[in-house]
Amino acid sequence: NKARIRQEIIKINTEAARFFYGSLNGKEGEKARQYLKNRSISGHIIRKFGIGYSPEDWSMLYKHLSAAGFDEGIIAESGLVLTNKKGGFYDRFRGRIMFPIFDIRGNIIGFGGRVIDSSMPKYMNSPETKVYNKSKNLYALNMAKNSGEKQLIVVEGYMDVISLHQNGIINTVASLGTALTESQGRLLKKYAEEIIIAYDADMAGQAATLRGLDLLNDIGCNVKVLQVPEGKDPDEYIRKNGEEGFRDLLKGSVSLIEYKLKLLKKQTATTATDEIEGKIVFLNKAAELMAKVDNLVEREMYVKKFSSEYDISPEALNSEVYKRLRPKG
Ligand code: CTP
Ligand code: MN
Ligand code: MN
Ligand code: MN
Ligand code: MN
Repeated sequence: NKARIRQEIIKINTEAARFFYGSLNGKEGEKARQYLKNRSISGHIIRKFGIGYSPEDWSMLYKHLSAAGFDEGIIAESGLVLTNKKGGFYDRFRGRIMFPIFDIRGNIIGFGGRVIDSSMPKYMNSPETKVYNKSKNLYALNMAKNSGEKQLIVVEGYMDVISLHQNGIINTVASLGTALTESQGRLLKKYAEEIIIAYDADMAGQAATLRGLDLLNDIGCNVKVLQVPEGKDPDEYIRKNGEEGFRDLLKGSVSLIEYKLKLLKKQTATTATDEIEGKIVFLNKAAELMAKVDNLVEREMYVKKFSSEYDISPEALNSEVYKRLRPKG
């Protein structure tokens, strides 16, 4: 029975996606089509991702699903409708660009909806249902897993994935928000030899990058960070600089330790009151980070780099690293 309800919710979602797609391409979808056009989203990619539009009406989808013969209890369980005080149903998503969310097999398990103006909230998403578990799913993994690449790139949002796929970077998935979960981490590990975190270049993105790095590292993933320059997200960057520009960023991806050393350097440069003090603070903390690098060749490279950069002997820095080595075993 539970399996039957799950199947039925997926059917409802599929029918809703068809409805939203039709509505995007109908008269009511004109502003939404214009919106997507302004963001350079092609017709091909709209079809590929099943992007649609939810009309501004309060119950057009509900009426449509109901007329199609779906049981109202299960329609409610799909999360596509909400109940009002009188016990009637109304559509959750109204006047939004609709992004179907797929599971690994390509079943539609939920939706994200974006406003086409500056109203709030910018995005609304399906609630958790019998088929949609946010923390266990990665957006577009059903497509990205077939890219033939060893790497998977993780971005924050719908538009980042869509824009990268449109520009030929098809090994991209989104965590849908900034908090990567352990289940998502395990999924990534299952499908890729190397994970590249490519979150937005803002405070939230940076904090999430650090958390994601540690999480993925702790479960044994090979992980790197792609840094999108100042204030941008992958979508904005690739729209401006094209596939080639993005591939250059990808080539410049840095390891966990490099990323942390870079951040540390920036932090000490802005907080230190005098130069000597700043160097000492940086080198001591850097020694701590380097002590976590198990690969001796890699560790020695950092020791060389920073000792010459900070004009101290590699022996001195190396012995500080040694003091901080964690006990084996
Ligand atoms: N998100 C959400 N609810 C919000 C804001 C964000 O669920 N109110 C999720 C969405 O999955 C979104 C992702 O977090 O795609 C990243 O958020 P953000 O960077 O703010 O949005 P973008 O994806 O960059 O969206 P856009 O480019 O359309 O503004
Ligand atoms: Mn963001
Ligand atoms: Mn750790
Ligand atoms: Mn964006
Ligand atoms: Mn963004």
